[in-house]
Amino acid sequence: MKIALVGYGQMGHMLRSVAEKRGHKVVLTVDTFAEDADFKPASPAETAAKIKESGAEGIIEFSHPTSVMGNIEALLPLKLPLVVGTTGWNDKREEVEKLAVKDGSFIFHAANYSIGVNLFYKIVAQAAKLVSNYDEYDCALWEAHHTKKLDSPSGTALEIAQLVLDNMPSKKTIVTEAFHDRPKKEELHVSSTRLGSVPGTHTVFFDSSADTIELTHTVRNREGLAMGAVRALEWLRGGVDDGSIKPGMYSMNNILGD
Ligand SMILES: NC(=O)c1ccc[n+]([C@@H]2O[C@H](COP(=O)([O-])OP(=O)(O)OC[C@H]3O[C@@H](n4cnc5c(N)ncnc54)[C@H](O)[C@@H]3O)[C@@H](O)[C@H]2O)c1
Repeated sequence: MKIALVGYGQMGHMLRSVAEKRGHKVVLTVDTFAEDADFKPASPAETAAKIKESGAEGIIEFSHPTSVMGNIEALLPLKLPLVVGTTGWNDKREEVEKLAVKDGSFIFHAANYSIGVNLFYKIVAQAAKLVSNYDEYDCALWEAHHTKKLDSPSGTALEIAQLVLDNMPSKKTIVTEAFHDRPKKEELHVSSTRLGSVPGTHTVFFDSSADTIELTHTVRNREGLAMGAVRALEWLRGGVDDGSIKPGMYSMNNILGD
């Protein structure tokens, strides 16, 4: 597939390498600042025009939370399968989905493209459901990331926390601050550590007086994220080509199955 990359930073470079290893051709890289990008746009409209000209058959967008909405709005009318990695626009999800349906376009978004993390979500949900049959178990979450990370706790930790709430009726609220008092039984504590270069670790603890069950996902490198995004684009392009998907918004649940 001929692919255009919007945002040619750390993820953009990794995406190029993974896409090429999977036999695709990156026909255009667009970045407002990166010296080695093919095109430096002055506006999202310029990005869209250049992509149209490039003959790309699919787009992957990993830019910046302040740029992503402008890019989505400019790129959807191209009607090319669009995979968005940039986070920070969750509150606009419904609006974007409506826009995609209206424009007859196809968009895919995951807050985390790692196949392993998405499998981990399913494992945690199932574990929480099983453990909740036994009153004696408490649950907490811990995550660690590098010191350049801007948000805390990570979006992934919050997603995992929500899965615990959905599947463990004894837990009703998420607490991300330090406790200055004893936690209430219904509070799910999510704690964060920022340390050196850690690419991303998430641990869920189920604890009783007799034992602890620990489930951990550890990121080794960013390749898994890029691989998930390229696979998402392959899935979207395939679905558009064989007519098996309708215009709208898709997520990892659509490609992972049960
Ligand atoms: N969903 C996921 O699985 C996942 C994984 C990793 C990173 N991310 C997110 O993806 C984004 C990019 O991550 P990164 O590590 O590559 O960041 P980065 O800072 O290394 O690269 C981002 C690049 O986007 C460029 N950019 C900014 N605005 C632009 C615009 N309007 N048009 C084109 N380029 C633009 C910047 O100049 C920069 O080179 C971040 O928001 C990050 O949180 C998501």
